[in-house]
Amino acid sequence: MKTSGGSDAAKRRAGESAAEAVTDGDVVGLGTGSTAAHAIRRLGDRVDAGLDVRGVPTSFASRELAVERGIPCLDLPEAVGPDGPGIDLAVDGADQVAVGRGDEPTVGPLIKGGGAAHAREKLVDAAADRFLVVVDPSKEIPVLDGSVPVEVLPPARSAVAAAVRAVGGEPTLRRAEGKDGPVVTDNGNLVVDASFGRIDDPDSLSTALSTTPGVVEHGIFVGLADEVHVGTESGVRVARR
Ligand code: A5P
Repeated sequence: MKTSGGSDAAKRRAGESAAEAVTDGDVVGLGTGSTAAHAIRRLGDRVDAGLDVRGVPTSFASRELAVERGIPCLDLPEAVGPDGPGIDLAVDGADQVAVGRGDEPTVGPLIKGGGAAHAREKLVDAAADRFLVVVDPSKEIPVLDGSVPVEVLPPARSAVAAAVRAVGGEPTLRRAEGKDGPVVTDNGNLVVDASFGRIDDPDSLSTALSTTPGVVEHGIFVGLADEVHVGTESGVRVARR
């Protein structure tokens, strides 16, 4: 599993904190990445101890880990279909989280997709009644400025790259490690990482990217996160929307 950001101990505290918010009978969106993996492992321990939950994985990797840890899984259509139970909460990591600093820290937009799973992550996280983000402090930032992963249909890669340049970004096709050529997502698509520098208006950029033909999904998550659990070297801070 790819990893980025701060210490594994901080990630573990964040993931385990969010896993403790799960209650008996819940359907839980299972995020992707090294921090969400700690939440999945902790949930697996709780299932061993008798907790009744079902997971909705956001990627091949999160499904694999959930199955290994004994967490029963549902596909997204089963969970949110007309006869489905819905998703009570989702727990997922992030590459950047805009956090307002005040007496009561607040949660702003996110950038996700460092592991190229953001399309399914956005589906699951948006469908959940509550979305808990799990990060270490290196992911907190006042204003988003990271590169934005954009999943694209393969034949659209050049047109999407041109559209990214037209809105002030610098596109780079994400290259695979351990394979020649580009990263291919769980959905069979490619990823263009788009650098914009400081993103003062994530809402407008989100709309511009979403309305570009050939874009399957991008990694700006606006208005979705309800809580951010920030694992530190000594504990966990929770910020709410
Ligand atoms: C997966 O595509 C991403 O959205 C991850 O959730 C994000 O990159 C955070 O990953 P880490 O917890 O490994 O930093």
